Amino acid sequence: MLIRSRKSWELSENSVTSESRYLNRRSILKGIGVGGLIAGTSGFALPSFAKGEDPSASLYPVKRNTAYEGGRAITPEKFATTYNNFYEFGSHKSISKAAQALKIRPWMVKIDGLVEKEMEIGIDDLLAKMPLEERIYRHRCVEAWSMVVPYSGFALSELVKFAAPKSNAKYLVMETFQDKSMAPGQRQFWYPWPYTEALTLEEANNELSFMATGLYGKPIPKQNGAPLRLAVPWKYGFKHIKSIVRFHFTDTRPETFWEDLNSREYGFWANVNPEVRHPRWSQANERDIGTEERIPTLLYNGYEEQVAHLYKDLGKEQLFK
Ligand code: MTE
Repeated sequence: MLIRSRKSWELSENSVTSESRYLNRRSILKGIGVGGLIAGTSGFALPSFAKGEDPSASLYPVKRNTAYEGGRAITPEKFATTYNNFYEFGSHKSISKAAQALKIRPWMVKIDGLVEKEMEIGIDDLLAKMPLEERIYRHRCVEAWSMVVPYSGFALSELVKFAAPKSNAKYLVMETFQDKSMAPGQRQFWYPWPYTEALTLEEANNELSFMATGLYGKPIPKQNGAPLRLAVPWKYGFKHIKSIVRFHFTDTRPETFWEDLNSREYGFWANVNPEVRHPRWSQANERDIGTEERIPTLLYNGYEEQVAHLYKDLGKEQLFK
C-alpha cells in the first residue's frame, strides 16, 4: 500500500470549501442572456449558453502576440486535440472522449499560502481580469514527441501580480482538481493525486510562463486542460499542468507529481536539453506530431535567450530531467 504523508502546503480536506457547494453566482449571472430568463417566472433561471458550449466562447479569438511564433508549421488542430496526456482520464494518448466527463463550470480557483490575502475566484471572473492574447509555442514532451500549438490565455506573471505574494514566497505550486467520480484515472491509488506542479517564483514571472485558457482561437478543450492550464515551453510537457484549481505560494520547494512517482527519471526542473538522456531514451531529437518528421531538439526547446539566465547560479541542480 502506498502511504503518503501530507505535504506542508496541502490543506486538510475539510478546510477546503467543496467545489460542488460553490455556485459561482456572478459567472452564472453573466451567462444569463435575455433569452435565458423565462419571462414572467421568478427564481431559478438557467444560463443562456447552449448545452455543451463553453461559457467563455465569446472571448475568443484573441489578438495574437507576434513576439511568440513557433518557428515551424502549426500542428493541425486535430492532432493537438486527440493525442494527449491526461492521466486522470487514462494512461494512454486517446483520452479526448473520456475527458469530456470533466465538468468545467462552476470552476473555482483557490489562491493561498504566502499571499497578502487568500481567496477563491471563479474562472470567469478571473478571465475578466486578465489581459488575453494568443501565442504560438513549441510543445516538447519528455517522451520525445512535439507539436506547435497556438495557445490563448494570459501571462502567469499577471496572476502572480493579482495574487500579491509575500516577500518570502519562493515557489508557486499548482494543483489539478481531484474527483474520482469524474476522472477514473484518480481511482488508481498508486498515483500521488492530485497532479501537482511547481515553478520558482522567478520562473513563474518569466515572460514565457503562460496560463492557457484557449487553443486554436477557441476555449481550451477539456482534454488539453480546460479551463486553465500552464504552458512553459522551455520545459518538458509534464510540467504543463492541466485543469488547475489551486495556486499555492510557499517558501519550500515541493515534490511534484512525477518526481514523487519516479525521481530518477523526472525532476523538479525538467528543462529541455538534447544532450541529457532520459534514463531510457535519447533526447537528441523529437518526432513532430503532424508531419511525423524527426527534428533535432534544441536546448531549452529553442528558448535559451529568454530563460538561460534563470539557471546561471544553479550549477549543482539537475536542471535537465
Ligand atoms: N496535467 C494533468 N493534470 N495530468 C496529466 O496527466 N500530463 C502532462 C501535462 N499535464 C498531465 C498534465 C504531460 S505528460 C504532458 S506531455 C502534457 O500535459 C500534454 O499536454 P497536451 O495533451 O495538451 O499535449
